Amino acid sequence: MKIGHKKLRELYSAFFKSLDHAEVPPSPLVPKDDPTTLFTGSGMQQFVPNLLGVPHPLGVRLFDIQPCVRVQDIEEVGDNRHDTFFEMMGNWSLGDYFKKEQLRNFFTFLTDEKIGLGIDPNRLYVTVFEGNDQAPRDDESIEVWKALFDEVGIKAEVGDRIRMYPASKNWWSRAGEPEKMPAGEPGGPDSEVFYKFDGEHDSAFGDECHQNCDCGLFLEIGNSVFMMYKKVSNGTFEELPKTNVDFGGGLERLLAAAQNDPDIFNTDVFSTIVKAVEKATNHSYDVDENKPALRIITDHIKTAVFMIKHGVTPSNKEQGYVLRRLLRRALVKMSALNEQYSIDSLEPIIYEVLQTYDDIYLDAKKDLKTILPVVMDEVAKFQRTLERGLKELDKLTSVDAKQAFNLYQSYGFPFEITQELLEEKGIHLSQEDYDKEFATHKEKSRSSADLKFKGGLADKSEQTVKYHTATHLIHQALFDVMDDSIRQEGSNITADRLRFDFYSARKPSEEEMKKVETIVNTRVNDALPVAFKIMPKEEAQKLGARSFFKEKYPDQVKVYFIGANENSIKDAYSKEFCGGPHVTNTSDIGTIEIERFKKIGSNMYRIYAK
Ligand code: SER
Repeated sequence: MKIGHKKLRELYSAFFKSLDHAEVPPSPLVPKDDPTTLFTGSGMQQFVPNLLGVPHPLGVRLFDIQPCVRVQDIEEVGDNRHDTFFEMMGNWSLGDYFKKEQLRNFFTFLTDEKIGLGIDPNRLYVTVFEGNDQAPRDDESIEVWKALFDEVGIKAEVGDRIRMYPASKNWWSRAGEPEKMPAGEPGGPDSEVFYKFDGEHDSAFGDECHQNCDCGLFLEIGNSVFMMYKKVSNGTFEELPKTNVDFGGGLERLLAAAQNDPDIFNTDVFSTIVKAVEKATNHSYDVDENKPALRIITDHIKTAVFMIKHGVTPSNKEQGYVLRRLLRRALVKMSALNEQYSIDSLEPIIYEVLQTYDDIYLDAKKDLKTILPVVMDEVAKFQRTLERGLKELDKLTSVDAKQAFNLYQSYGFPFEITQELLEEKGIHLSQEDYDKEFATHKEKSRSSADLKFKGGLADKSEQTVKYHTATHLIHQALFDVMDDSIRQEGSNITADRLRFDFYSARKPSEEEMKKVETIVNTRVNDALPVAFKIMPKEEAQKLGARSFFKEKYPDQVKVYFIGANENSIKDAYSKEFCGGPHVTNTSDIGTIEIERFKKIGSNMYRIYAK
């Protein structure tokens, strides 16, 4: 049976509902007011407080399908299984069931022909944690796997179908291995399931083929993390009050496994987009050497569409820079394949992305009108830069690896293009030198990304959470002082300050700003409780919860209430659609001072506060 993505979504949802799991709406792809991470990169991000012990209003068994972007993987795209945008199918047990039930449930979902994917269990191979100083070997999972395979008549040997690996492979936290985790971060050993495709091992990847070999025979399709530890400030681990399960499996990879085809680009979340790219570039996906470039173009344009949909526009920093790189890389690849490609051919590619996810996350007709101009504007800008870059290249009589790399950095010229253009001038550039330069840079950007991650999550994260709650108070206080024309336009939080942008029909005076500050501090002193509830969008709107007019919300939304009492959330001081996290009481925020206030556009104002 060929399962498409819509069927997979239905099966997943029905399976977990039948096991009493509540469906949680996914969080936004671009986290709001969270400076610790540029994009949502895993399903568990929204459940961090719950994994640490805060009860979740929907209970102890949860599931969702979370759109994710992992930019760290950008250089890997081009093979048959990496992509920068993907959907993570996840389920969670918050101190409810543990290893035995989790592994059985996932195994059933994979193999059952009626309620699951009907995958032949002979194709499945698993891994478990081998143990280290911090946590013991996961013998329990080994026993569970043996029994599960035994039930379907397969004798699973340790060292073959079940393999043990160190923390680099079988430990999960948002920061990676135990040593890399900041204090306060939850993590734990995990058990992964791999699908084995037909084919020969490629000895370029090592003498022996095994689950974590990169030759392409094995594909990781799901990861059950046993979240039971928290890193503490002296670098050791403490057990969490409850043992949790955090499961995630990539929708694209599960589809590939269900179809017994190792190429995720052949699944129906990619295939029609690939067709449009084939047409635009006049290159066929049936030819192996075309595949890497066609995959890169397909992946990058898809991710760009989702980013633009979530309000990102190309720029030179943060999310905007990632979007710019993705689009430029796609365009360079397009012109490498077909110098004559027409920019009009981008429209059908974008349209196919929208069609693929129409009614799931996107609205094909409506979104095309807003997304296409953003892409076209960037194409025009890039073409001008490209011309300048070409001129610069023309002036050079010799080019070293560093300069070649700079061309890549500043103009988005990939090595192959620089190399090709230089060859025409009789200059030879070695791929090896370039790779070295590239690796050094990659190290640098990895470590700065790591720093950003750690910096935000460690001791500073508490401060950003406080500022986040403070923005809700400022928002409401502006309504109190001004009028109903107030509209939040955006906000940005660092560990040192908060920034809040808003629209107002008339200019607030100095005095009015002072009033806003006083109201916020009074609410802080009132020690108001902060809580959230997940509810249908209509209900939230009826309650008068504030939302971003720019954003399309799912049917179920999370609403934060400040100052609500048990019986009446309607009378809360502030009600706002928001993913969180927030402090639990306004008294945790401390005194807030509005440091600066300025006009940033017509009827647009900005507040800086500390
Ligand atoms: N958090 C784990 C992962 O992203 C499982 O959901 O792999």
